[in-house]
Amino acid sequence: MDLALRAAHQAGVFLRDGRPDDLGVAATKSSAVDVVTEMDIASEKMITGFLAEHRPDDGFLGEEGASVQGSSGVQWVIDPIDGTVNYLYGRPAWAVSIAARVGGADGETVVGVVHAPMQGETFRAALGEGAYVNDRPLKVRPAPPFEQALLGTGFGYLTERRVRQAEVVRQLIPQVRDIRRGGSAAIDLCDVAAGRLDAYYERGLNPWDLAAGDLIAREAGAVVGGRAPGDAPSGDLVVAAPPALFEPLRAKLDALGAWHD
Ligand code: IPD
Ligand code: CA
Repeated sequence: MDLALRAAHQAGVFLRDGRPDDLGVAATKSSAVDVVTEMDIASEKMITGFLAEHRPDDGFLGEEGASVQGSSGVQWVIDPIDGTVNYLYGRPAWAVSIAARVGGADGETVVGVVHAPMQGETFRAALGEGAYVNDRPLKVRPAPPFEQALLGTGFGYLTERRVRQAEVVRQLIPQVRDIRRGGSAAIDLCDVAAGRLDAYYERGLNPWDLAAGDLIAREAGAVVGGRAPGDAPSGDLVVAAPPALFEPLRAKLDALGAWHD
């Protein structure tokens, strides 16, 4: 936890204070709107460099390409900027997300840190030890009736997937209080933990978007799952909600086909 916090703060200062006014797109990934900036790449290098210095035998998985097997049984899962499009436009909702997993790729997340410098907030959780923002304990909001739920969601970068995701939103929005699209999955999960959203769902997340926020939401009392009852959250579908809202929302999303492209 100490190393994750130090790495996230170091990267946060670099990203906040070092953001060039004329920041541009360095490359595109899955589609023309899936962008990476020079700052994403530099942030990932800074984080992996720092962690590897202290934990040379650990593995790494990072959004911008870090991929090291390691031999210690600990793997760090890193999103150097979650909310890259917000960062590019100078919008505040972006975060550095760092998780530590034990037991390999399908192992268990034991530490999660989501550091959102422009919000002045660091969300953190260790397995079994609760979730905190700065030093305040986090707790999900009591589940409202379905029709009063404020949901968060996000959209992928591929056109066909977005068409499907928009169709799900079209069908859901008359049935709930409202829907928010914040632009950072890691912050969305922390918002569920903090009671700033009733629930969140998204198709197509990668492990680095999800790993830290998943633990933070669960440690704050949310259920975080996937498409079918009992499924772990995955790229197919992530659903995070307080216990009484989880199953109605999961079942609704399954019925709407929120998991297919
Ligand atoms: C994205 C954000 C966004 C979500 C996308 C993610 P990135 O991550 O978390 O909110 O809707 O699915 O890919 O590209 O900003 O690191
Ligand atoms: Ca991300």
